[in-house]
Amino acid sequence: ELGKNNLLAGKRILVSAGGTQEAIDPIRYIANRSSGKMGHAIALKAAQAGAKVFLVSGPVNLPVPFGVGQFPVKTAVEMKEVIDDFYESVDAVIMSAAVADYGVAEVADQKIKKQTSMTLELVKNPDILAGLGERKTHQKLIGFAAETQDVIAYGKEKVRKKNLDMLVANDVSKENAGFDVSTNEVTFIYPDDRVVHLSNMSKLDVAEHIIQALAEL
Ligand code: C5P
Repeated sequence: ELGKNNLLAGKRILVSAGGTQEAIDPIRYIANRSSGKMGHAIALKAAQAGAKVFLVSGPVNLPVPFGVGQFPVKTAVEMKEVIDDFYESVDAVIMSAAVADYGVAEVADQKIKKQTSMTLELVKNPDILAGLGERKTHQKLIGFAAETQDVIAYGKEKVRKKNLDMLVANDVSKENAGFDVSTNEVTFIYPDDRVVHLSNMSKLDVAEHIIQALAEL
C-alpha cells in the first residue's frame, strides 16, 4: 500500500493532537483554533510506518486513522493524566496538541447568569511536555511551537527548556500554515541548534518528514 514503510516497526508512539477545551461552566469553555489535522496526520503516518500508535486528542472533528487507538480528552489536566500514564511504556511522544496555557480557576457547577460585567480567574495549566522532558529516560520527545515572530530563536530556547530531541516550529502568521488549514510550513530545530526548514506542503507530507526525522533519532 502507498505510503507504507517499516521506519517505526515495533515502536510504540504517543501522539497528542487538537486543542484542549477549558470549561467555564456546563455550557461554556475556552478553546483555541487547533483543528487536530497535524496530529492526526502524524498518527496516520506513524501507523503506516509500522508503529503502534496511541492518539490523545482534544475535541476534534476528524476520523481516527485505521489501527490507531484514540483517547479523547477535554482539558489540559485530563490530557496530562492520559499522557503521563502512557509515558513509561512508549518509545516516543510527538506533542502536537495546542494545550491551553490557562484553565479556569473555579469551574461553575451551574450556568453562570448574565451580569453587567464579570471577571474570570485563570490559573496556569501544567506544562505537559516540560514535565515529560524532566522525567525523560529512554523516550524521544518531539514538541511543537506555534509562533508569530522570532520562530527560530524562541524554538531553540524551547528545545533546551523542555529537554526535547526535536522541535517542529511553525510561523502561524504565514499564509497556508498553522491552524485549521491542510498545509503547513515548518522548521525542525535540534538540541545542537541544527535547523532544517521545509517548504510549504500538505500536513500529510509534513507528517511523513516528522516520521522520517523520528526514525533517524
Ligand atoms: O511553550 P509552548 O506552549 O510554545 O510549547 C509548545 C509545546 O509544548 C507543544 O508541543 C505543546 O503541545 C506543549 N505544551 C504542553 N503543555 C502546555 C503547553 C504546551 O505540553 N501546558
